[in-house]
Amino acid sequence: MTVVRLEGVRKVYRMGEVEFEALKGVSLEIAQGEMVALMGPSGSGKTTLMQIIGLLDRPTAGTYALAGQDVTALSENQRAEVRNRQIGFVFQAFHLLPRLSVLENVEVPLMYAGVPAPQRRERAVEVLRRVGLSGKERHLPSQLSGGQKQRVAVARALTLRPAVLLADEPTGNLDSHTAAEVMRLFQELNDEGTAVVVVTHEADIAEHTGRIVRIRDGFIESDGPNPHRRRPVGGVA
Ligand SMILES: Nc1ncnc2c1ncn2[C@@H]1O[C@H](COP(=O)(O)OP(=O)(O)OP(=O)(O)O)[C@@H](O)[C@H]1O
Ligand SMILES: [Mg+2]
Repeated sequence: MTVVRLEGVRKVYRMGEVEFEALKGVSLEIAQGEMVALMGPSGSGKTTLMQIIGLLDRPTAGTYALAGQDVTALSENQRAEVRNRQIGFVFQAFHLLPRLSVLENVEVPLMYAGVPAPQRRERAVEVLRRVGLSGKERHLPSQLSGGQKQRVAVARALTLRPAVLLADEPTGNLDSHTAAEVMRLFQELNDEGTAVVVVTHEADIAEHTGRIVRIRDGFIESDGPNPHRRRPVGGVA
């Protein structure tokens, strides 16, 4: 099944009189089981594209279908609803709430979704186990390593079982060993059927994916299978 289908997507940013075309006609399809690296120079449009795929922003022109539903013309509220249900986000800077425990951080999306407290807790404990963080539920984010913080962010992104996991430079703040560990976690989730899109500048991070899309000046420059995909060895520690 096709999870993401973009056709002829353009994005024009307007700043007063000045217009800038950040995406110049991008067509892209991502299937359910895929794990894709999005690469390209700084300013090429990667984050812009991720924000459109993640329904945080809308294209100026072109169409977008997410999991078979045309989401191009949805209202702000409808987009928020679809976003909460279908999209998981992981960011470079983790974006955890510092005063909430690990468990509470993971519960936040479930709270917004109106899931009752007991089920919330149960699901949060389950996804934390899934990312290898059992035993850390009561910690504060400040009491975790960088890799552990990012795994909390991944757990939080997974609580509502999204169709697509979007990660914008998720390993940018991590050392190479920890970065590889987070990528292995993404691979495992991908093996379980979640589509994953990872923005990265680093070739060795992209090597963990099955497909590499390169973007330059708002265009897709190349798009193809990654012949060097590195498969996980063992589980996540
Ligand atoms: N809100 C905005 N208003 C105006 N221009 C913007 C806005 N957001 C992005 N741009 C411009 O659009 C272009 C693409 O930006 P984008 O953030 O998508 O790049 P990127 O590929 O993610 O770069 P990086 O690797 O540095 O994160 C850049 O030239 C940027 O200056
Ligand atoms: Mg960016």
